[in-house]
Amino acid sequence: MEFSNVNLIVILVFFYFILITETRSVYGEKSHILKREKEDLELEKQLKILNKKPIKTIMTKFGDTVDCIDIYKQPAFDHPLLKDHKLQTVPSSIPEETTNKNISSSIFRNSNIDNGFGNERCPLGTVPIRRTKKEDLINARKLLHSTIPTNPNAYTLSPMNNHVVSIVEFSETKAFFGATAYISAHELELDNYQFSTAQIWIKNGPDEEINSIEFGWMVYPALFGDSRTRLFGYWTADNQKETGCFNMLCSGFVQVDSHVSLGAIMEPLSVYGKDAWSLPVKVYRDPQTGNWWLITDKTIGYWPKEIFTHLANNASIIRYGGVAGAKSQTPAPPMGNGYLPQLQDYLRTAYMRKMKYIDEKGHSVNLNPYGVPSKHDTTLDCYNILFAGNIGGEYEITMAFGGPGGICP
Ligand SMILES: *[C@@H]1O[C@H](CO)[C@@H](O)[C@H](O)[C@H]1NC(C)=O
Ligand SMILES: *[C@@H]1O[C@H](CO)[C@@H](O)[C@H](O)[C@H]1NC(C)=O
Repeated sequence: MEFSNVNLIVILVFFYFILITETRSVYGEKSHILKREKEDLELEKQLKILNKKPIKTIMTKFGDTVDCIDIYKQPAFDHPLLKDHKLQTVPSSIPEETTNKNISSSIFRNSNIDNGFGNERCPLGTVPIRRTKKEDLINARKLLHSTIPTNPNAYTLSPMNNHVVSIVEFSETKAFFGATAYISAHELELDNYQFSTAQIWIKNGPDEEINSIEFGWMVYPALFGDSRTRLFGYWTADNQKETGCFNMLCSGFVQVDSHVSLGAIMEPLSVYGKDAWSLPVKVYRDPQTGNWWLITDKTIGYWPKEIFTHLANNASIIRYGGVAGAKSQTPAPPMGNGYLPQLQDYLRTAYMRKMKYIDEKGHSVNLNPYGVPSKHDTTLDCYNILFAGNIGGEYEITMAFGGPGGICP
């Protein structure tokens, strides 16, 4: 930008502030409207960054509009810290897979994660990105500032009525380079003011500026327009003060897979007492580039190293659990499969199995079967979490979680 332009902008901004200050002092009403208009402008600006000119647009069978965007022009690259970022198209290595790939038992099958393209495809060199609407940004912002608590010890008080249960692996001496689990996948009927997640957190840093990557599945009608179970990812580099968002609602996440993106729908889902399906999911730090890859049965994409501070090298905490939230004064939604957890029958509980972290050498390592503390922030008839330890077989380190919600203190 030329010097004279900068000057002009400085002057304009100066007058703008005078205008705002004056208006506020004289007409409170008017300043309110001005503020709304300013927010509106900001949203429009952000929408322009997020919704790039598509090379092709696909209307999915689930009713979403997905744009195919030139992989080098996706919104991530508008992030000021990613100006010199070199796109990584494949991980330099993938943590060794300790799972038996050839599983026929119905209990251990993986849901398909699908954008609902049918026979359509994004052209070579483009990636699918769900088109963002203005309401999405408004709803996401509300959610961001009032719901998902990041402090592992103290849950933030918020105008939302939201709750967390989780298992925490934390060690003064250990550094984590990723986390993985098979998360049972469930259907939940939520209303517009409710959301519910089954998720893993990867965190580092002091509370006030905590860096967090969160991923798993989520039901959130206000964000997606339906009550379907969807793959989600979330990040922040400052305890959600200025940075971060869900999925691709801001610049940050780099989409790599040409078919499946964040927000994709999971099917089939578990049927109580009958059928279990799960989401295999991991996030791990690429040892060569430092980027944090999100991998299901596909390599979806990554959160670049540059957008983090405390997560640039490794994580100090990993957590596994669920978050459920609702507008204040309304009942809290179900979490998991909507039933309280138990360890006798895994067709009747929501659970995570093969819970592992990734170590410095890129190996998948079982969580401590004896020593991961659980945390709840409400009564145990709303939600609970039970740690089973290592129960072997296709389960290994396992926990069960969830509950019906309702009127939860
Ligand atoms: C998987 O199992 C099927 C049937 O049991 C068998 O035919 C196939 O060869 C197996 N594949 C692998 C990769 O082990
Ligand atoms: C983890 O990161 C911290 C800095 O954030 C560093 O001091 C430490 O050596 C790292 N640990 C490992 C094992 O790489």
